[in-house]
Parts: sequence; structure tokens; C-alpha cells
Amino acid sequence: MSEVLLITGGASGIGAATARLAARKGYDIAINYRSREREAELLVEELKKTGVRVIAVQADIACPGDIERMFEEVTERLGVLTALVNSAGVLSGRTRVDEADATLLTRLFQTNVTGLILSTREAVRRMSTAHGGKGGVIVNVSSMAATIGGRPGVSLYGSSKAAVDVFTVGLAREVAAEGIRAVAVRPGFTITEMTAEYTNDPDRYAEIASSIPLGRPANVDEIARPIVWLLSDEASFITGALLDVSGGGFNIGGTPLKPPAQAH
Ligand SMILES: NC(=O)c1ccc[n+]([C@@H]2O[C@H](COP(=O)([O-])OP(=O)(O)OC[C@H]3O[C@@H](n4cnc5c(N)ncnc54)[C@H](OP(=O)(O)O)[C@@H]3O)[C@@H](O)[C@H]2O)c1
Repeated sequence: MSEVLLITGGASGIGAATARLAARKGYDIAINYRSREREAELLVEELKKTGVRVIAVQADIACPGDIERMFEEVTERLGVLTALVNSAGVLSGRTRVDEADATLLTRLFQTNVTGLILSTREAVRRMSTAHGGKGGVIVNVSSMAATIGGRPGVSLYGSSKAAVDVFTVGLAREVAAEGIRAVAVRPGFTITEMTAEYTNDPDRYAEIASSIPLGRPANVDEIARPIVWLLSDEASFITGALLDVSGGGFNIGGTPLKPPAQAH
């Protein structure tokens, strides 16, 4: 049986890096995108050269109807889903609580939390042995911002990712006996479009780098590798885990390995 992997937000950043690595491991892959049709098409063409089956599926994770259509399309075109990586997410800029409004919060939570949970629901309905499935693995892309609320202005985003963490732990317990493992990866600061505002500014970049014990942000492959490892049978006894991939930054529950240059 082939492994069939759906990656939400798969046309860019951590999602695209995960797709590239998973294709090399032999997964058939569905790349979900919202607006990045061209990027998704180019990635499909690139990955097809590895010999696996690859499709791009447009769906806005903030729209429940889109999610249902996406899973139906993936099942129809690639077969039974065995793996899901929920990487789609939004940062909502740097917004302190006194600037928060309902529209922004709705978009943030609709994408990062509701969309992720509904995508997971669709996956569980297909993977769970209780629904006639053969099991599978779900990896949620959380964030180290879930631990202490992120850098200044990121507390709203951090709270959405904290919801992802708690959901992942509870989910893992709910579906463990049905052949499904569920885990979360919590990246620290990673160089992608999402963080371009910070990385394009040399002073901010230096400040962030100095707050990370390993002395620099991650590149996307350094997040994709643990994701793909967690998907694999090498991680067969890991479920309900929240894996920090942060270069030692945002060390929860204790003294940071190296004091950050600025409070986060
Ligand atoms: N970069 C970091 O430092 C960092 C750290 C911790 C966690 N993360 C998490 O890592 C994940 C991937 O982010 P990234 O850093 O790789 O940035 P990215 O390149 O901006 O990727 C985010 C992807 O999510 C997609 N997306 C957003 N809203 C969507 C929606 N409603 N429906 C479908 N797709 C949607 C985006 O597509 P559109 O542009 O078309 O909307 C984009 O392709 C996110 O969940 C993020 O929160 C990132």
C-alpha cells in the first residue's frame, strides 16, 4: 500500500520543504494551497521527477466546505490517506491585545485552530480503524510561541498555537487505539515568508539570532526533517508528543539555555 500524504499550506515554507523531503522518501503527496497556484504547480512538476504521484489541491482551510472537498478530491485521486501534515497557518502581524479586533481574531483562529481541527476530523474519518480505515499519522505544525506567548505582539498567534498543542495531546489519546498517531512539531524562529518582516531587517535579525542558543534561526529543512521522521515508522511509539525544534530558544518551564537579548 502506498503512503498518501496531504500537506496543508504545502506550497511554501515548511510545508513545501516537507513535501520535497517526503517525496524523496516515496510518499504520494497532495499539496494544498490557498492562493499560491503557481507555486503549487511548480512544486508538483518538480516532485513528479522523483517518481511519486503528486497533485495540488486548492482549498481555503478557513472554509469548512473547502476542507471536505479537498479530502474527497485527495481520496479520489490518490487513494486512502495515510498521513496528514497541518502546516497551513497565519501569523496575523504583530498585534498587541489593545489592537485586536474580531475580524483578525476570527481569521487567525479559523485558520490556525478551527481549520486544523476540521482537517484532522476528515483525516480521522478516513484513517481510523473505527471508521474502517487502516490507521495513519497526523503531524500538526504548532510553534514555540505556544510556550510563552511568542515575541512582543505575537500573543494572539501564540494562543492559537497553544490550542493546537492541547488539541494534539487530547487527539492522540482519543485515537491511539484506532491506529492513529498524532504529534505536534513546535518550530522556533524559521526563515520563511512568514518571518520576512524580521529577517529583512539586519538589526532585528541579529537580535533574534542572539536570543537563540544555537545562534541562528532554523532553515525550513531543519523543521521538515523531524516532521518526516515523526511520520515514519521510526517514530512508531511516539504519540501525543510536542517536539520543540527551536535551537534551544523559548525553553519552557525553566531557565533559557542562554538568556534572550530581549524578553519574548
Ligand atoms: N516561520 C516560523 O518562524 C514559524 C515558527 C513556528 C511555527 N510556524 C508555523 O509553520 C507553519 C508554516 O508556516 P511557514 O513559516 O512555512 O510560512 P509560510 O511560507 O507563510 O506558510 C504558510 C502557508 O499557509 C498557507 N495558508 C495560510 N492560510 C491558509 C488557508 N486559510 N488555507 C490554506 N492555506 C493557508 C499559506 O498560503 P497563502 O499565502 O496562500 O495563504 C502558506 O502557503 C505555520 O502554521 C506557522 O504558524 C512557523
